[in-house]
Amino acid sequence: MAQSQRKILVTSALPYANGSIHLGHMLEHIQTDIWVRFQKMRGHLCTAVCADDAHGTAIMIKADQQGITSEALIDGVRQEHMTDFNDFLIGYDNYYSTHSEENRYFSNRIYTALRDNGKIAVRSIVQAYDPEKDMFLADRFIKGTCPKCKAEDQYGDNCEVCSATYTPMEMINPRSVYSGATPIEKESEHYFFKLPDFQEFLAKWTRSGTLQDQVANKLSEWLESGLKEWDISRDAPYFGFEIPDAPGKYFYVWLDAPIGYMASFKNLCDRTEGLEFDDYWAKDSSAELYHFIGKDIINFHALFWPAMLDCAGYRTPTKVNAHGYVTVNGTKMSKSRGTFVKARTYLNHLDPQYLRYYFAAKLNASVDDIDLNLQDFQQRVNSDVVGKVVNIASRTASFIGKKFDGQLASHVSEAEIIQSFVDAGDMIAEHFESREYGKAIREIMRLADVANEYIAVQAPWVLAKDEVTLPKVQEVCTVALNLFSILATYLKPVMPKMVEDAEAFLGKELTWNNRSELLFGRTVNKFKPLMARIEQTQIDAMIEEGKQEAEAEAAAKEAAQPKTVETELDKEPLAAEVTFDDFAKVDLRIALIAKAEHVEKANKLLKLTLDIGGETRTVFSGIKSAYKPEDLEGKYTVMVANLAPRKMKFGLSEGMVLAAGPGGEDIYLLEPHSGAKPGQRVM
Ligand code: 2FM
Ligand code: ZN
Repeated sequence: MAQSQRKILVTSALPYANGSIHLGHMLEHIQTDIWVRFQKMRGHLCTAVCADDAHGTAIMIKADQQGITSEALIDGVRQEHMTDFNDFLIGYDNYYSTHSEENRYFSNRIYTALRDNGKIAVRSIVQAYDPEKDMFLADRFIKGTCPKCKAEDQYGDNCEVCSATYTPMEMINPRSVYSGATPIEKESEHYFFKLPDFQEFLAKWTRSGTLQDQVANKLSEWLESGLKEWDISRDAPYFGFEIPDAPGKYFYVWLDAPIGYMASFKNLCDRTEGLEFDDYWAKDSSAELYHFIGKDIINFHALFWPAMLDCAGYRTPTKVNAHGYVTVNGTKMSKSRGTFVKARTYLNHLDPQYLRYYFAAKLNASVDDIDLNLQDFQQRVNSDVVGKVVNIASRTASFIGKKFDGQLASHVSEAEIIQSFVDAGDMIAEHFESREYGKAIREIMRLADVANEYIAVQAPWVLAKDEVTLPKVQEVCTVALNLFSILATYLKPVMPKMVEDAEAFLGKELTWNNRSELLFGRTVNKFKPLMARIEQTQIDAMIEEGKQEAEAEAAAKEAAQPKTVETELDKEPLAAEVTFDDFAKVDLRIALIAKAEHVEKANKLLKLTLDIGGETRTVFSGIKSAYKPEDLEGKYTVMVANLAPRKMKFGLSEGMVLAAGPGGEDIYLLEPHSGAKPGQRVM
């Protein structure tokens, strides 16, 4: 029975505007798109919106590194994201940006409502601060040595080696990842959303059928251990929206990110006749609201977001649908193995519908991870889509084309098999509705097996040999093509382009509700192959490209950090940018190497006695791998004469000589013209 038309608004999590879309993102956008296409096909008024999540420090810093404005960065990335989604056949009704006037409006409005309802607290907190960049540092922007296990290069909040948690200031040698400076502690006023005030509301809301059981159970643990106030402000400099009554303070990116769902929808409403914002977001709205998200961002969508919405007088989501992570060949996507595949890299080699089909076949309503096993991917797509579904049409269409001029039989004697395919649609629809896509696909493939068996038993190629049984060929192929058209209908949300081609062949637009309108007595068009098999070479080429991209990325990163010769004297990370005035403080002098000696027990060092015109300095320099002491004596070099003396294991080093090169034997002292005078200043 036809359902009444539902009004549905669907969102996917908003991708950050500082990186490319990869197959991890694609799982979610494919999951969402299949659901949306299914709802639209069923005749519901379903609207899907998304946007780029364009605010925050990471974006600001990246733009800075590229020497462009944050706005220019996010505009470029948004275009790239839109093209990727479009080419993956993801059909958002609007793909917007959180850096928009609509989002500023709703963010201000929601914040003001929270404040006016007494749900914002203001207090000072102490945070790590980069004194060179003049900015506060989130923990992940600080690196250093783990105070517990001494593992180097760990983030400022926890150690990936021993799992210890700590504050950045407890680390050994903490460094700002931006400038390399040692962070200091600094106080500033922050704005907090009083989440604990919503304990009771959330305990009820999270158990109201809006969440998967696994998710609700996890949230119960958090709820039972007590909620904390949520810090929603960040200090300038920050790329985002300034808080209306707090100059210099900005909304934390996660405050305005989900509000971006509203903003994207509002932007669409403003240019779409009959689409009303309030119909979907007012407290008493009867429309349905679904968020598709990854399991890592559940707290934002199932705690902060419903509490904010409720407090600000808006409706809360009908369902928050969380999915798991994507693994490739059983493990985390890996750049070095080439399995961290960008959407574009995939598209350079493979049809997007292969992946849409494979993810659909593996997806269910749980938060379990989904493995993209590349061998299974190839085998399953080839055997199911090409070998089963497309095969039904390709085995029978040629007879209709060649023997009957494209004309289908006007009636058939085996209509029951067709009816059974039509009937199966109700169960398949339930599976799509409940996001049990894997179950839907299994049922569709079971039907495809039935159809192929029917063709095999009827053997139209045998019947076609005899004039007497020729009419039966038309009947059998008509049944087969009707079965094919019903299967194509069920696969339409998953493989929209292939089904569009099938529609062109059948001369019928396939919708869920017209699947029982059978194709009898009409003509079909010339059949063209609908889908090619996946070849191993395509997968290999994709992985190879993934590896090359990773290598190029690593090389670019490396190149962005010019090497200094690593010696016992020089193990510091690349220094922060200096002003000209800072640089001018460096006193570079011509020095005559009066004496050069080996240093006992030092692998890399030579002890140099340098004459800088009336003054002698001792400098330990890590150039032993490149120079013999006797070759250096009497030569000139350039030294930093005003470097504070440094006590080393082997004695006091009173300066530094300038050398360059990749290391090993290739270290070159900077040798001035021999006419230079010791002590002469170098600019
Ligand atoms: O985790 C992320 O990638 C976020 N950019 C998702 C934001 S979803 C929503 F709240 F905007
Ligand atoms: Zn550790």
